[in-house]
Amino acid sequence: MTLSIEKIEKLVEPARVHSSVYADEEIFRLEMERIWGRSWIYIGHESQVRKPGDYYSTTVATLPVLMIRDTKTDQINVLHNRCGHRGAIVTQKQCGTAEILRCPYHGWTYRTDGSLHAAPHPGAYKDTGMNIKDAQYSMRSLGRVDQYRGFVFASLAEDVVDLSDFLGELKHTIDNMCDRSPEGEVEVTGLNCHRFLHPCNWKFFLENLHDAMHPMCAHAATSDAVQNYLSDLPEGTKPPAEAEIIDPFGGSYDFFDKMGVTALENGHGYMGGKKSIFSHFEMYPEYLDAMREAYGEERMQDILSFNRHNACCYPSSTIRDGIQSIRVLRPQTVNSTIIESWTFRLKGAPEKLLQRTLRYSRLINSPGSMVGPDDLDCYYRIQESASNGSIDWIDLHRYFGQDQSEASSLTAMGTSDLGIRNQYQAWLDYMRQGESQ
Ligand code: FES
Repeated sequence: MTLSIEKIEKLVEPARVHSSVYADEEIFRLEMERIWGRSWIYIGHESQVRKPGDYYSTTVATLPVLMIRDTKTDQINVLHNRCGHRGAIVTQKQCGTAEILRCPYHGWTYRTDGSLHAAPHPGAYKDTGMNIKDAQYSMRSLGRVDQYRGFVFASLAEDVVDLSDFLGELKHTIDNMCDRSPEGEVEVTGLNCHRFLHPCNWKFFLENLHDAMHPMCAHAATSDAVQNYLSDLPEGTKPPAEAEIIDPFGGSYDFFDKMGVTALENGHGYMGGKKSIFSHFEMYPEYLDAMREAYGEERMQDILSFNRHNACCYPSSTIRDGIQSIRVLRPQTVNSTIIESWTFRLKGAPEKLLQRTLRYSRLINSPGSMVGPDDLDCYYRIQESASNGSIDWIDLHRYFGQDQSEASSLTAMGTSDLGIRNQYQAWLDYMRQGESQ
């Protein structure tokens, strides 16, 4: 039975949400249909499929999909990874190259645009009334596929707004990540990513990236250890490169408040802007030279002073342009989510920049890192309470009622719950839209 919109609306109040939104299987099913099935979902970067026939398999709203570069047109297609015959998943490989895709069950084969190439033993279909040329026997394309500066998004729905409108102001974050390259382009490092299974609902991860009141508590063990280590260093010793990355996680409430948080349309948002946890990162002279030559002094300063942190592209991805990483949510079940952590190379930049990006990923985002598992432990504790019914409401009152309105955004102190409240406004909008379809 589908929950009525009246019941769904009762789950989200202006400054608290009901715990069942993290644990109820029916709500999860509706989220996949109405939010993940009706918005633009981040699929991957064009550099993951450089050559014709290259593919990468992932999911959208728990459905298996395939991003593949067309061998004829060179464009990037996103197809349902399902055979048109009886629905078997065509490939379970994470990535690879193929001119023709072949289903392992009865051997139907498909071109890279998803059209049926051949079905073995065609005589068996003669005079059966089955038209093998019917599009239903293809690997269907998703409703919409588009990309912005190499970042590929797709939607299961055909009637969504254009990708550019969906991203809105968040395009500046993607622009900044690319513009930090002297060539204006980024590319993924390697063919794969850190993949981190979170045994909890997808929303915890997204919300945490706009929760600036947790680092000084949840990550205290790590940041305290770094502080102790640094204070014991002999005078004049250069701190190890890891220190500049971990140190801000022990920042004060004042530090994070001054960073600020901005809420945008469609549930998007970001922390920082002028100041972030990357502001103090060392600027390597050879990198500055390359940037100056590419852009000139003034434009270079504009690019490098853009300091956003954890831009959330609701509902599927989060971007750290200053360190060139994207983390992607792939919900599996109501209490299981895979988080992918991708790192990018700034084309034309010195190798040192990439090494710092990789260092950051290992230290902060990877399953074996010194920070990410702290967060997961906290999500898991709430998931337990939401699942066993020992808490009814999840509180979102920090700095409630004190948002500042700007053109098409709201801003607040960095430790405000504004970003999370904004995500729930989008959640409600999507859930309501779904019922009217
Ligand atoms: Fe794929 Fe039969 S299910 S060929």
